[in-house]
Amino acid sequence: MKTIKKAVIPAAGFGTRFLPITKTIPKEMLPLVDKPNLLYTIEEAVKAGVEDIVLIQGRGKYSIEDFFDVSYELEDQLLKKNKIELLDRIKYLKDYCNIISVRQKEALGLGHAVYSAHHVVGKDPFALLLPDEIMYTAPSTPSVTEQLVLHYNEHSVSTVATMKVEANEVSKYGIIDIDVLDSHRFKVKDVVEKPEPENSPSQYALPGRYVFASEIFDYLKNTKPGKNGEIQLTDGMVQLAQKEGLEAITFKGQRYDTGNKLGYIQANIDYALRHPEIKEDVKAYILKIAKELS
Ligand code: UTP
Repeated sequence: MKTIKKAVIPAAGFGTRFLPITKTIPKEMLPLVDKPNLLYTIEEAVKAGVEDIVLIQGRGKYSIEDFFDVSYELEDQLLKKNKIELLDRIKYLKDYCNIISVRQKEALGLGHAVYSAHHVVGKDPFALLLPDEIMYTAPSTPSVTEQLVLHYNEHSVSTVATMKVEANEVSKYGIIDIDVLDSHRFKVKDVVEKPEPENSPSQYALPGRYVFASEIFDYLKNTKPGKNGEIQLTDGMVQLAQKEGLEAITFKGQRYDTGNKLGYIQANIDYALRHPEIKEDVKAYILKIAKELS
């Protein structure tokens, strides 16, 4: 059986919920404290054993590629000033993983973005991570992608992460119709994109972490524009589930929806409260303003 060495990370969307900043700065490059969203996502994939990152890019997203390049001037300056700790924060990036850029020429939807990777991924199974969903796991816990890879390795079936959401929240997510296999493992029968609560097949949502067999590309290839006129990943997943098999597992970890402003701010607060350099000062500040607000 093939192991997962490749991950696809789509980053070609317009990030309209973050305008005006996303006019020139890609949503994926917005920081959580001092690292871009995208780097946390890549770290999650690398922890799962991924070596090749296929980044789906769109127009004007040069800062993403630049971030993984050598920065000769900056590195030289830091070295001359003997700022080794600062140098270490950037130097590892160029060798951290292989970044392969693929251009999505038009932002026709997530399904189309994923399909753009098919020439690079070929017949290999791969992980798919949406970089505007950040998954925190403690250093001693497998990353969420690693949890999916372990399940894929054990059961040889495409596997997606799922989480239970409130009934009135289902219209924000792709929702799965399931047969329960055990308390944290489900067989996926159908996938519905952003259903109304009254039509939702369950309360189990898809928070942007997947491991797919390469057959997903065959189904995405023939997928027509669906909801909102976009080529939807979920439409391809329905075919995969019904013809090849698809399972969903609940996961250990804290998920942040950094694609919207509130989720992004919450993630920044939590990451600041974990950051060794500033956590005590941030905590003191939060306690101070909480007192003033109450
Ligand atoms: P989203 O729909 O959340 O991102 O797609 P968006 O379109 O950039 O954001 P808003 O809604 O306008 O604020 C989830 C992920 O899929 C990528 C996005 O970059 C994001 O990381 N994506 C989406 C593509 O790469 N191509 C697409 O055509 C659509």
